[in-house]
Amino acid sequence: MKVDVLIGLQWGDEGKGKIVDVITPKYDVIARFQGGPNAGHTLEFDGMKQVLHTIPSGIFHPEKINVVGNGVVIDPVVLLKEIIELSGKKLDATKNLVISRKAHLILPSHRILDAANECSKGSSKIGSTLKGIGPAYTDKTARIGIRFGDIEKKDFRNQYDTLKSKHLELVRNLCFDYCNYKIDGDLFDEYERKWFEALEKLQSIPLIDSEIFINRCLEENKPVLAEGAQGSLLDVDFGTYPFVTSSNTTCAGVCTGLGIAPRSIGEVFGIFKAYCTRVGSGPFPTELNDATGELLRKNGNEYGSTTGRPRRCGWLDIPALKYAIMLNGVSQLIMMKADVLSNFKRIKVCTQYNYKGTLIDYIPFEINPGELSPVYTDIKGWDASLDKMKSVDSLPLELIRYIEFIENAVKTPITIISVGPDRLQTIRR
Ligand code: GDP
Ligand code: IMO
Ligand code: MG
Repeated sequence: MKVDVLIGLQWGDEGKGKIVDVITPKYDVIARFQGGPNAGHTLEFDGMKQVLHTIPSGIFHPEKINVVGNGVVIDPVVLLKEIIELSGKKLDATKNLVISRKAHLILPSHRILDAANECSKGSSKIGSTLKGIGPAYTDKTARIGIRFGDIEKKDFRNQYDTLKSKHLELVRNLCFDYCNYKIDGDLFDEYERKWFEALEKLQSIPLIDSEIFINRCLEENKPVLAEGAQGSLLDVDFGTYPFVTSSNTTCAGVCTGLGIAPRSIGEVFGIFKAYCTRVGSGPFPTELNDATGELLRKNGNEYGSTTGRPRRCGWLDIPALKYAIMLNGVSQLIMMKADVLSNFKRIKVCTQYNYKGTLIDYIPFEINPGELSPVYTDIKGWDASLDKMKSVDSLPLELIRYIEFIENAVKTPITIISVGPDRLQTIRR
């Protein structure tokens, strides 16, 4: 058995949570392999809505095991909050959730450091979610991080205090040299208290060697789905660096984030919106800073699931999509939010970039203001609303043409079309 993978192909928020929940019945295990509470994955069904940050999106299927893999960074406060929210919906997540001992912890002081780092960057800030992601991964690669399994050790408190002191020293230096960020001592103490309390309460969740568990599942022919967080264009190596997150969001991250071999990767589902969005700073070639962009934001309810920030909106970007498909080895595409484009008389799709006077169809090393402009193809829109449609046969002809246009351009089939946030608003093709 192989691990199927679901990866965001844009700048995140493509609708990964919804689709993982929809396809979970086919799998025994759903595993997150990277990212952390910067993610916000939304699930909707039976009139209920839930945003998940750390917990995999298979959690609403009680017979499936949900794994938080070694490549994930965990803030116990956020995780506990999710578990409490779920228990309010009569779901005991502790029954089908396990955590890798090797997953790294986000300390309260990682969050402070994240904020101080951003503050020190002035106008060139990343637009981070400020959940402590960057500093936690920094410590992991600097080999000074604390792993979830360390809480079982006697000197855990010592380890914690040493790392916290390092962080506070760094923050003091940053503040002294570069910015006027101020630590709110009371707020910090309160978060730290909640952090230790959360760790205590999370003891009911089994800590496992998840790489052994997952490989055993594969040997026993149990199907596994790896759930990506963020999107390929936020990948630390291949995204629009430095405006990226701090993990490998692409398919390669599945191998290191779960401990499986490349030959164990099966189907790769690439998920994208019928247009583009981005939250935070950084290049966005097809961004619309006009009434059309505003309309996309309004129709698509494009506000961050984690931070509530308005998402930047623009037309579909084929060169970027092709790049993401190449990086991930995507075998099937899933197109989300087709309903949001209803009633647009004309829809534009970027097929190439004009980069310093030359036409290219890939993302260049760097995109500086004024150097790159998208070349658009104009496509006829549809005026039917899609949200009640249940099969491909009912879809408007213009939408079918839009789908075929994309498939031809990226040479990959679109096998699922989403026409609304609910589980049931999903059309298989
Ligand atoms: P994720 O981070 O990739 O899981 O995506 P988010 O949950 O952050 O953002 C996707 C948003 O779009 C959520 O509010 C979903 O409920 C919503 N959504 C998902 N699929 C569709 C769709 O096909 N149409 C519409 N209108 N909304 C959708
Ligand atoms: P999901 O899984 C959209 C963005 C932030 C910022 C940059 C770095 O819901 O798709 P970080 O907090 O990682 O230091 O932020 O990455 N970002 C996301 N954008 N969806 C996400 O996750 C994101 N996670 C991080 O806005 O620009
Ligand atoms: Mg999201």
